[in-house]
Amino acid sequence: MKKNRVVETGDSLRKALLCGMIREEDTAVIFYNLSMLEERIRLLSSCFPPGALHGLAIKANPLFRVMEHTRSMGAGTGVEAASLGEVTMALKAGYQPSQIVYDSPVKTVRELAFALKTGININVDNFSELSRIAELMPSIETPAGYHASIGLRINPQVGVGTILESSVAGVYSKFGVPVNSRRNKIETAFLAYPWLTGVHLHVGSQGCDITMLVDGIGILYDLVLEINSKRKQTGMTPVSVFDIGGGLPISYIDRDIPPSMKEYAEKIEERAPLLFDPSCFKLITEFGRWVYTNCGWTVSRVEYVKHEANINTAMLHVGADLFVRECLNQRDWHHEYSVYNHEGQLKTGYSESTWNLAGPLCFSGDIMAKELKLPVVEEGDYIVIHDTGGYTFSMWSRYNSRQTPRILGYHDHQFEILKERESLDDLLEFWR
Ligand SMILES: Cc1ncc(COP(=O)(O)O)c(C=O)c1O
Repeated sequence: MKKNRVVETGDSLRKALLCGMIREEDTAVIFYNLSMLEERIRLLSSCFPPGALHGLAIKANPLFRVMEHTRSMGAGTGVEAASLGEVTMALKAGYQPSQIVYDSPVKTVRELAFALKTGININVDNFSELSRIAELMPSIETPAGYHASIGLRINPQVGVGTILESSVAGVYSKFGVPVNSRRNKIETAFLAYPWLTGVHLHVGSQGCDITMLVDGIGILYDLVLEINSKRKQTGMTPVSVFDIGGGLPISYIDRDIPPSMKEYAEKIEERAPLLFDPSCFKLITEFGRWVYTNCGWTVSRVEYVKHEANINTAMLHVGADLFVRECLNQRDWHHEYSVYNHEGQLKTGYSESTWNLAGPLCFSGDIMAKELKLPVVEEGDYIVIHDTGGYTFSMWSRYNSRQTPRILGYHDHQFEILKERESLDDLLEFWR
C-alpha cells in the first residue's frame, strides 16, 4: 500500500472525525479529494490539443456538486451523458449544450428531438437512429450559435480486453456499427448526410491496454480520411469531429502500473497526427474512471467482527449496494484497503488469519473482498476502501433500502458536504 496515500487518507479521516463531519449516524462516508480531481482535469487538458472537449463521463460520477466543480474548470471541460437524465443534470449544473455529448444507445425520437433543438452533441449508435435523425432534421429549428455535432459510433472491432463485461469492441458488441461488416453502409451514410460530421468510438473501460485503444482510433482515423477524400470530391464539408471515448485504465492495486495519460496521448498523436491539428479536427474525449476513481475513497465503521470456521469476517455498512461489481466479480474488480482504529489511527501488521469484508445486504454474495491480509480488525474500527471515486456511488443499489451515505469533498482538509446522508423520508419517497 503506497505510504503517502495511507498517510493522506488517515490525516483526512482523523480531521473529519475531529471536526464532527463523521457523525454517529454516518456509519459509512464517501470522500472526494477535490484538489486531486482538479489536478487530474488540468493534466488531461495539458495532454491534448487546445480546443479539445473533455467530456467527463457522468456515469462514473453523477454527483451534482462535483459536476458544478468540474464545470468551473473552463470551456474545455464538458460531460458525456448516457441518458436524458444525465443530460438534464449537466444543463442544470450550468454546462452549455455544446459542452455536452449525448451517447445513449437507446434514444427515443423525443429525446433526439430535444437534443437536436437544444444544440447538444449527439453520438448516433446505429443506422435506425440515424434514419430517425434524418427524418427529424427538416423540422428542427436550431438556436443561434448552434455548435452541436452529430457523429456516428463505430465499433472498430479490435477485440476484448481482460474484463469481458466492460469491453465493447469485440466482433460482437451491443454498441455502435461494426466497421468490418458495415463499411460500405458507413461510407454511404457519410456521403448521404452532410450534417453527419463526427465519428465516435469507445473500446472499453478498464482492462484494455493502450495498444488496443490506439488501434481502435487508428482504424477509424484511416476510415475518416478515406471518407473525407470522397466527401471533398462531392463538395461536402469534411468529417471534423473525432470522439475517442474514454477507457484509459487506472491502478486499483499498487502493483498495477497503468499507462499515463501523456503516454496515451503521444501514442494517439503518433498514429493519427491530424487529430492533434485543431484546423483539421475537433477532438473529444470521454474519460471517467481515469478522472474520478483515484480521487475518492470510502470509509465504513466495522459494526461486528465474526470468527467462524477459520474465517474472519468484518461486517461493514457498505457492500453490494456500493460495490456491485466488486461483489459480483471479484476476479476483475478489487481495491486496496487500510484499517484505522476508532480515532482514525492507522493499524499496522497482519493478523494471523485472513479477512473477508462483508456488507449489510441479505444475500451471501454481499462480500466485496475475500481472504485479505489485514491487521487485527475490531468492532468500532474504520476500514477504508481506496479508489472509489468512479463507478461506485453511481451504481448504487436500492436493494434492502439502505440509506445512501454522506458524501464529503475536501481541499487541503477543508471539508464540504457534497451530498447529505439520505434521510428515511427521502428513502420512503423513492419507494412511494
Ligand atoms: C461511451 C462511453 N464513453 C466513455 C466511457 C467512460 O469510460 P472510462 O470511465 O473507462 O474512461 C464509457 C464507459 O463505459 C462509455 O461507455
